[in-house]
Amino acid sequence: MPDPHPEAVDTGTYPPNRGLATAPARTRHGDGPAALVEAHALERTYWVGGRPVVALASATCTILPGDRIAVIGPSGGGKSTLLHLLGGLDTPTGGTVRWPGLGPGADRRPARVAFVFQMPSLLAPLTVVENVELPLLLERVSASEARAAALRALARLDLLPLVDALPEEISGGQAQRVAVARALACRPRLILADEPTGQLDRATAQHLLDALLASLEGTEAALVVATHDRSVAERMRTVWRLRRGILEAWG
Ligand SMILES: Nc1ncnc2c1ncn2[C@@H]1O[C@H](COP(=O)(O)OP(=O)(O)OP(=O)(O)O)[C@@H](O)[C@H]1O
Ligand SMILES: [Mg+2]
Repeated sequence: MPDPHPEAVDTGTYPPNRGLATAPARTRHGDGPAALVEAHALERTYWVGGRPVVALASATCTILPGDRIAVIGPSGGGKSTLLHLLGGLDTPTGGTVRWPGLGPGADRRPARVAFVFQMPSLLAPLTVVENVELPLLLERVSASEARAAALRALARLDLLPLVDALPEEISGGQAQRVAVARALACRPRLILADEPTGQLDRATAQHLLDALLASLEGTEAALVVATHDRSVAERMRTVWRLRRGILEAWG
């Protein structure tokens, strides 16, 4: 079957790579804060019908505060698998992942990590604003502060007209923007966004990226975006490529 997402980012010049195995292992950024993520020889093999599927072969990488990293590569190359492992949502079948700069959160997962998932992830019975404030309420932020933070994040993404809508009443692209607002509202130190612009037209995609980058400006938060969209990758300082589970520098 042909690749449904032929590699969109296949030419062009990108800044020198940083953060991969080819660079010396770093636990600290100069005298600055600790690395947010350190992954060493990370592997993830799935077993399907008794046969191994190697989604990630051996990934060694470091994410530092302030990083802006695009992860590109063909469909099935392992991008989502890598993001889930880097955020502690999945357990590697080999290698190690540590979060020296994030600290422990719930269930032995790292704290202050926000995901934007590739699949729809809003909770159906909750309105848009309730979806965005939920993670804050779970962190025991007061109801009024959570509501205010949610509305600020929704405003940044031009979503105020939709605050009272239910997920089934909005489009897939709007739902993706709500998911980005939900990620921003928590003021995370690491955002792992899996194809956040996948369902958006070009102008809306750029607007979403503008809002995302602007919100992170002046913070030490790092952003890692898996994307097929060349124009998204071009706006990140670092580009990694994943192909058949092999992680490498691009450009
Ligand atoms: N839960 C799972 N069970 C079995 N195989 C899986 C599972 N999740 C992923 N895979 C396989 O692992 C490989 C990598 O998948 P992954 O979803 O990480 O790719 P991707 O680069 O994110 O692709 P896309 O661009 O289509 O989102 C693929 O061969 C996929 O079929
Ligand atoms: Mg994916």
